[in-house]
Amino acid sequence: MLSHEDNELLCRVGRGTPMGNLMRQYWIPALPSAEFPNPDCPPKRMMLLGENLVMFRDSRGRMGALAEACPHRGASLYFGRNEECGLRCAYHGWKFDIHGNCLDLPSEEGLKKEHFEANLKARAYPCRDVNHMVWVYLGPRKTPPPLPLFEVLTLPPEHVAQPNIMMEEANWLQNIEGDLDSAHLDWVHRRLEEHSPKPEKGVRGFWNPEAPKPPKLEIVPTEYGAYYSARRRLTNRDDWHRINQFIFPFHTMITSGDGKVGLRSFVPLDDGHAMLIHQIADPVEPLPPGAGEAFANRFDEIGGYIERTHDPRSYFMTRYNKRNDYGRDLQVQEKLMFCGIPFVVNLQDRAMTELMCNERGEAIYDRTQEHLTSSDAMIIAVRKQLLDAVKKLRDTSEVPANVDDVALDKVRPVTLRLPIDADWKSASELARRAVAGNPSAAEVPRP
Ligand code: FES
Ligand SMILES: [Fe+2]
Repeated sequence: MLSHEDNELLCRVGRGTPMGNLMRQYWIPALPSAEFPNPDCPPKRMMLLGENLVMFRDSRGRMGALAEACPHRGASLYFGRNEECGLRCAYHGWKFDIHGNCLDLPSEEGLKKEHFEANLKARAYPCRDVNHMVWVYLGPRKTPPPLPLFEVLTLPPEHVAQPNIMMEEANWLQNIEGDLDSAHLDWVHRRLEEHSPKPEKGVRGFWNPEAPKPPKLEIVPTEYGAYYSARRRLTNRDDWHRINQFIFPFHTMITSGDGKVGLRSFVPLDDGHAMLIHQIADPVEPLPPGAGEAFANRFDEIGGYIERTHDPRSYFMTRYNKRNDYGRDLQVQEKLMFCGIPFVVNLQDRAMTELMCNERGEAIYDRTQEHLTSSDAMIIAVRKQLLDAVKKLRDTSEVPANVDDVALDKVRPVTLRLPIDADWKSASELARRAVAGNPSAAEVPRP
């Protein structure tokens, strides 16, 4: 349970809020590179941390992100012309480059024009286009910190899949808490019998012979966030350890048991919407042809995405969503799965977290109402880490260590089979380090 004040501190991300300030210290993944297929292609609207942006690829192929409102009189730069290394506002023709410099101000002449051009800046945010994803820095520094050293950013592009993205119509924190909650595996993702056939849509679900016994959680807070083991008994000699990572400000790494590495980012568009951006990579060899695209298109089997509107909060909105009960099939729920919603990417998780709301009906869960147990230990630990970081930044201007020391981000999640009562921390130490060329440890295969 959290106080109302702490809940607000953690959930609100707009400009000037303490959590918004913390997130703005970091590079933020925004849109797939494929959204901007060539130089001077049409700009796109985007929203990050409550700010309306227009993103574009200029004539030299560089990515830019400008505040959507033109500095002249606020027309949307989305309607601008993307030409000759800049975006020209459709209203009166003012033109800005990716750095926000004013390249042309045709509504003045002579010295006045020169003066305006030299002194006027559009609000511009630096972008980096790496391994199929464009990252944006919305922070206060003139020179941004280095990009984080996540493997999906440092491996060669042919090792890295295109991002799979799901919009969630809920506050970012309840979505990421779902990712850090190992206990739900045995419930919402469970199949009813060990040998239940696979449903028509989605995967078969987890099977844990020990369920409903909860996993034993052990948490280790770190400079970059926290990691933990969820331990389940496999045999009378072995335990199954799922060791997962939380990394400031909104990333997780969840072991998949298939040898791949990955990054999952819960990126807030505003307080009521966040994208789950998931990229995977093979640390040993390039992905087979087509595998990266197939990963990005994993919602195809449930009808893909609905058509976008003018609002970025409609991007990556799956056809199955809260307005149609996420495609729940009651027959499947009766015969095959604990929950009849297709187990496709995080759709089941989203159904659980998206409808949590406060008394005003906002999709921001009121954590004064909850009752936590020992199976929520990682969630409690991550909230504490986040609250400490937010308050430290607010009160002392100190940022978490992994803003600048990006080598701290070189970590992995792991699945290990260890003897009962083994020291899982030392046994997993090497496997938790991200080393290119080393396969990801996955001793218990995907269920
Ligand atoms: S509002 Fe953009 S040029 Fe006038
Ligand atoms: Fe889940």
